[in-house]
Amino acid sequence: MSQEGRRIARALAAHAQWLGMSGVDEIPPGLDWPGGLATQEVSRSDVASAMPEANLPGAVSSAAAAASSSNDLGGLRAEIGDCTRCRLSGTRKQIVFGTGNPNARVVFVGEGPGRDEDLQGVPFVGRAGELLTDIIEKGMKIPRSEVYICNVVKCRPPDNRNPEPEEVDACAPFLARQIEIVAPEVIVALGKFAAQTLLETKTPITRLRGHWHEYRGIALMPTFHPAHLLRNPSYKRQVWEDIKQVMERLGLSHA
Ligand code: URA
Repeated sequence: MSQEGRRIARALAAHAQWLGMSGVDEIPPGLDWPGGLATQEVSRSDVASAMPEANLPGAVSSAAAAASSSNDLGGLRAEIGDCTRCRLSGTRKQIVFGTGNPNARVVFVGEGPGRDEDLQGVPFVGRAGELLTDIIEKGMKIPRSEVYICNVVKCRPPDNRNPEPEEVDACAPFLARQIEIVAPEVIVALGKFAAQTLLETKTPITRLRGHWHEYRGIALMPTFHPAHLLRNPSYKRQVWEDIKQVMERLGLSHA
């Protein structure tokens, strides 16, 4: 099995485990993974070997198992519930789901909540968040409430460490569904972690940023994370270049 196959298998296993814990023991045949993720065959045995502890429910036999069925953000949030799908649940104060316009034309995706976000339950409300708000409101000249903002993982990693692969995998179906529900024209991936996760690459952010990529048919622009800009203000110029490309794509004037 390829590396990508193993990654999908891990995500399927985590979700199947959750389905099992939720009492789901049968998946109707013929369901497709939203967004077409299941572009390659991953068999039940692949899933079992990638994550033997998953204890798959009997009829969870295809990529369909990982589909989240909620059709709106409220339903998706309810589906996440008081999540214990990964160990971040043991240290977080609360889940930081996402905020903004459910019909936004642009979605900003960060890495994961920090201390302020964990306390308030809203993404990007600390110092990096203030800078992101300036980028949106002063730079793009649109209210922050017009865009949608979320993170790869919905719970704060302790001491702001990077999320572990199994934590990302546990949250992956929800991030994918969030983006699918909002269906923006553009995604802005904030920083190395969000860009590399969404694009499934190890290419450095310095090479990814400034160029258009695609996430499940949606245009994606990676740029530096606002926290990086707080430490290195000289990078603001490059972020502004990236944001101008986003504005052009959305037909917004930046003259
Ligand atoms: N950094 C992130 O990546 N996300 C937040 O919500 C806050 C800081």
